[in-house]
Amino acid sequence: MAQDPFSNQAPIKGVKKIIAIGSGKGGVGKSTVSSNLAMALAEKDYKVGLLDADIYGPSLPSIFGCFNQRPEVNKEDKIIPISRYGIKLMSMGFLVEEDQPVVWRGPMLFKAMDQFLRDVEWGELDYLLVDLPPGTGDIVLTLAQKAPIDQSIVVTTPQTLSLSEVKKAIMMFKQIGVPTKVIVQNMSGMMVNGERIDLFPTGPINNIKESYGIPNLVEVPFDPKIGMSAEAGIPYFKSLKENTPAKDTYKDLANLIG
Ligand SMILES: Nc1ncnc2c1ncn2[C@@H]1O[C@H](COP(=O)(O)OP(=O)(O)O)[C@@H](O)[C@H]1O
Ligand SMILES: [Mg+2]
Repeated sequence: MAQDPFSNQAPIKGVKKIIAIGSGKGGVGKSTVSSNLAMALAEKDYKVGLLDADIYGPSLPSIFGCFNQRPEVNKEDKIIPISRYGIKLMSMGFLVEEDQPVVWRGPMLFKAMDQFLRDVEWGELDYLLVDLPPGTGDIVLTLAQKAPIDQSIVVTTPQTLSLSEVKKAIMMFKQIGVPTKVIVQNMSGMMVNGERIDLFPTGPINNIKESYGIPNLVEVPFDPKIGMSAEAGIPYFKSLKENTPAKDTYKDLANLIG
């Protein structure tokens, strides 16, 4: 019999729950959702770590305004994550220069994911959020083989193309035994003068939710301040004092998870 590919899974010491954030397409808002969910969970007093598993296109260092930082190593040779706003962060972006491409293939990726999980001093965490690269490739499968992912959140925009790709992400998680707890439809309309307008022709998100048996749907509106705060290096959730429709949806998401 073939060896069970998930037999190498081992819990990460001190980490209670691992949540993966994935999508079919790139640029749909995974890193934005991951960062703001991390902040919303931290506001609820959970201890949160955020692992940027997008090895080829790390974006958490810039969202959190810390891409020049280099993590230190402790006496036990463990990498100390960078702390920002109470969140413990780890990303390939802390290990390579900003303009250097990562040109690794299979085995090195495998090793890097392993190190991010095991050789980082995550400490005690209620949640380790893993911001995945788009699609259903090597990194996601490696991660699933290395660590027990408790649940996933999939992110899509309302366009038909993104929706059809997100089905693949849901199916991939299903195949590796990870339940998808929430589907996030990002950039889901925008409020203009108190009225909601659609930015894109919208597809059948509710049908997907029903037919794939996803228990929750969260719709995050488009808000120009989200992009601006990412450029400024402060997660949107943290940059605002007031509540906004988008901020409320991140809180809803945190309530569904935590
Ligand atoms: N709800 C939103 N409103 C406005 N801009 C957004 C929203 N969500 C994401 N963005 C912007 O869209 C771009 C892509 O988001 P990102 O989170 O990097 O996507 P991914 O990680 O899926 O590639 C970024 O510039 C981000 O600031
Ligand atoms: Mg990303």
